[in-house]
Amino acid sequence: MKQNLSFARSMNTWYRRHARRLPWRETSDPYKIWISEIMLQQTTVNAVIPYYSKWIKIFPTIHHVARAPLQHILKTWQGLGYYARAKNIYKSAKIICDAYGGEIPNDYDKLRGLPGFGPYTTGAVLSIAFDRRYPIIDANIRRVMMRILGIEGHADSSQDAKISVFLQREMPKKNLKTFNQALMELGALVCRNREPVCLSCPVKALCHGYKKGIQEIIPLPKKRIIRNMDVAIGILKRQNKYFIQKRPAKGLLSDLWEFPGGKIKKGESSSEALRRELKEELDINVGELRHLMNERHFYTQFRVSLHVLLCTSTDDPYLNKNRKWATLRELNDYPMPSGSAKIVERLNKMN
Ligand code: ADE
Repeated sequence: MKQNLSFARSMNTWYRRHARRLPWRETSDPYKIWISEIMLQQTTVNAVIPYYSKWIKIFPTIHHVARAPLQHILKTWQGLGYYARAKNIYKSAKIICDAYGGEIPNDYDKLRGLPGFGPYTTGAVLSIAFDRRYPIIDANIRRVMMRILGIEGHADSSQDAKISVFLQREMPKKNLKTFNQALMELGALVCRNREPVCLSCPVKALCHGYKKGIQEIIPLPKKRIIRNMDVAIGILKRQNKYFIQKRPAKGLLSDLWEFPGGKIKKGESSSEALRRELKEELDINVGELRHLMNERHFYTQFRVSLHVLLCTSTDDPYLNKNRKWATLRELNDYPMPSGSAKIVERLNKMN
């Protein structure tokens, strides 16, 4: 790197040469950029690409989102996780259509007031879609900046004040779309979490972490405790229909549909747990139980082992709008947590 090039120019030149071609980089439609930024929170680029393409096909404009039923929105999101993101898109799409004629506002305060628009998303949409001069800090950018500034410690928002001061000073006046995405791209391709490729870095000459040789211990690794949960799941079948119910509107995996059941307590067998849960949840007594399959799923903060049991000769659960009997084919239309969707897939194969 030539020493007289500014940070921003070095970054932008590098980006033009090395950035990946990604579907949301081929558009300047603020709606599409917004959707991609929401999907890319907590989810990797490779996982997002097929979801983004499917979403844009199903909902080509914000009006399509605002007019759709919530169930259709959640079904399209199924498998991406953190469903609050999809619900917030839905709420904001309705507000933007009602209050702003379907145009995403090019204004910090208006955007920031909408559901799901935190400082990151607001800055990302304003800079990438409208070329507005707002710094953004996501996990990639935080790591890149901590290394460049030589800030040791854990990567959390307590580091952001110093990073913001630097970005405010170094950001260019225009081409913010390029500058902000260049920081993210550097984090994804070069200044990676593990084994950063510093020799390929356009700003290594400015990097305090690199100069001191401490880039690989920045940031300090996170201690993550992944809980394991054993869950008993009941398959209630009447002719060719299966019983499913909707999870509550608040909390984990809210508003998604699943088979009844629940956590297996310490010392309980899966059958005992299921009998207890079905009595508590549905007020039914089950007869014989037959082990049908086991399934595992790794969610971000926990993993579940699903013990799936076929319930014979049960009382009929009392029905309401959140409880349904559905054929296998109909089950495919209900948004479900990924673990439950795996069970449906196996049931499909068994039939
Ligand atoms: N992560 C968040 N926003 C992104 C973008 N626009 N491109 C690539 N990765 C991202």
